[in-house]
Amino acid sequence: MYKILRERPADAGDIEQLLDLAFGPNRLAKASYQYRDGVPPIPALSWIARDGAKLVGTLRYWPILVGAAETPALLLGPLAVDPTRRGEGIGRMLVARTLDQAMLSGHRLVLLVADPGYYEQFGCLPAAPFGFSMPNEKPERLWVRPLAPGALASVTGAIQPRRLVRGRSMSRRPAAAARRATTARGRRLTPPPRTDLRRLMMPLTPASAPGVKGRAQSRSGRSLGMLKPNGAAGTQPNCS
Ligand SMILES: CC(C)(COP(=O)(O)OP(=O)(O)OC[C@H]1O[C@@H](n2cnc3c(N)ncnc32)[C@H](O)[C@@H]1OP(=O)(O)O)[C@@H](O)C(=O)NCCC(=O)NCCS
Repeated sequence: MYKILRERPADAGDIEQLLDLAFGPNRLAKASYQYRDGVPPIPALSWIARDGAKLVGTLRYWPILVGAAETPALLLGPLAVDPTRRGEGIGRMLVARTLDQAMLSGHRLVLLVADPGYYEQFGCLPAAPFGFSMPNEKPERLWVRPLAPGALASVTGAIQPRRLVRGRSMSRRPAAAARRATTARGRRLTPPPRTDLRRLMMPLTPASAPGVKGRAQSRSGRSLGMLKPNGAAGTQPNCS
């Protein structure tokens, strides 16, 4: 039986191996990796699944900025489950746990790149109709998951990397980032009281629906053949 755990530094090697297995050696060339280059994942949102000593799943999130206002948001992924352990609910456990964690931490918006089919069950919506875009990525592959009411109304535009400068997270336009940090500081550093968060979560947490926790088998048992293990059919998942 697998366990969902916070990622530790010692997991890094196993995670790279699993990502290579799931996405293939060219994964670093995907458009979404421009947002990960030189930027560490967010530790509180980096989770793994282990079965004994074996790493069977990984999910990380990266900080990004959105639009001219450089609004902070999250980039979900990569998500990968060991090819021999797919269909057991591991991916769903990782996504559900981390979306809840992100919401409780006060994050408002998650973006991700994927083909249709998997992320809709977590409340993800096509992002292009809301005005989001990712340079060098097909618009129909960009998805958004609001974590708070009104989150989609106040943010739109192209995704930008969030660079680290002297240990601090900065955009490529430091002056604008500094202005944004000043104006948004209250919201970013002071999440709403817990009771408010719980109320906000009610309609927005399909990840918390019954069946998410502790399920070891795919409910419907339908084929998961859309995303083949690396090399199984000579294809790589077109997700990142
Ligand atoms: C996509 C992936 C993470 C799914 O992980 P998993 O642990 O096998 O998925 P789960 O068992 O949690 O599936 C949960 C539900 O999603 C469904 N599902 C799984 N993969 C799916 C897919 N590709 N499309 C649509 N639905 C899918 C399952 O059938 C299940 O639904 P059910 O309970 O109603 O049967 C895994 O297949 C993987 O690592 N693929 C390669 C890498 C990849 O594509 N990552 C995603 C980046 S976009």
